[in-house]
Amino acid sequence: MTTDARSVHEFRVDALRGRDFLSLADLDRDAFMGLLDAAVALKRGWREGIRPRPLQDATLAMIFEKQSLRTRSTFDIAMYQLGGHSVLLSQNFIGIGVRESIRDVAKNLERWCDGIMARTYGHDTLTDLARFADVPVINGLSDRLHPCQLSADYLTLRERFGDLSGLHLAFVGDGNNVCHSHVQAAAVAGTGLTIACPDGYDPDPEIVAAARARGADVRIERDPRAAVRGADVLYTDVWISMGHEEDTARRREAFAGYTVTPEWFDDLSDRGVFMHDLPAHYGEETVEEAVHHERSVVFDQAENRLHAHKAILFQLMGREDA
Ligand code: CP
Ligand code: NVA
Repeated sequence: MTTDARSVHEFRVDALRGRDFLSLADLDRDAFMGLLDAAVALKRGWREGIRPRPLQDATLAMIFEKQSLRTRSTFDIAMYQLGGHSVLLSQNFIGIGVRESIRDVAKNLERWCDGIMARTYGHDTLTDLARFADVPVINGLSDRLHPCQLSADYLTLRERFGDLSGLHLAFVGDGNNVCHSHVQAAAVAGTGLTIACPDGYDPDPEIVAAARARGADVRIERDPRAAVRGADVLYTDVWISMGHEEDTARRREAFAGYTVTPEWFDDLSDRGVFMHDLPAHYGEETVEEAVHHERSVVFDQAENRLHAHKAILFQLMGREDA
């Protein structure tokens, strides 16, 4: 695969141009693979000093109702590296839906910006932004989905394993936003997925049913150790997502036995790796030794947030001539 300032445009997927990026369920396999191809090309190009600027002079508004390290940093750096820049709008500054309606925020931002990335509580806030704004809206995490995370994760898997077909993932923990995007990613990429979660913490059955209707091999287990046996990937995420803090005591009780330790890695396939989207709550879903273990690819995932976001921005907003 060659990478020069022109050839990155080979990886442009017309189907994504000008669209929103709210859910992996909106993508077909070619679009998702095109996204990963573009991420690989942009990552390699940057390292080789080949640095196209398809977002020259473009502006991304970044709305954050919740905290962030990775998403906030990597979208900002991605815009800079592609020739544009970003404007950070935290909720305590703009009061979206409080100080000003979602519609009016959207109608303002579309006059100044070429795209909006938003991290929200309600997924409806994102779909409303997308409905009202005439520029692409990117889901930087909602209570329901985290598609940018899974884009970086699948880039990591592709680098690690090459071909994604035949890969089997085990997701151990809460049926939350990250788990939901896992289910959708399995459907779009054709990977196998076993989810282990305590009763009452299953992923939304509608999301699972939609993925199965697309042919996805998604199974639900109650025994986390059984889910992990023979898997190529052991993935976990926090038990207490942002916004669920008042439920902490009940969740800690429900997830007893779900703390991933390095001993669990012995049950993976020979090539098996450990993944976590971060931040980690040590002593709950995992321990520090697991995240820093030699079979962990957690910081590759974090690194790849940058390259996946560059690919998303390029696909949605990139100019042909830059
Ligand atoms: N994984 C992830 O989205 O990290 P941040 O919450 O720090 O953005
Ligand atoms: N499930 C976590 C993901 C953080 C990136 C949360 O929503 O807090």
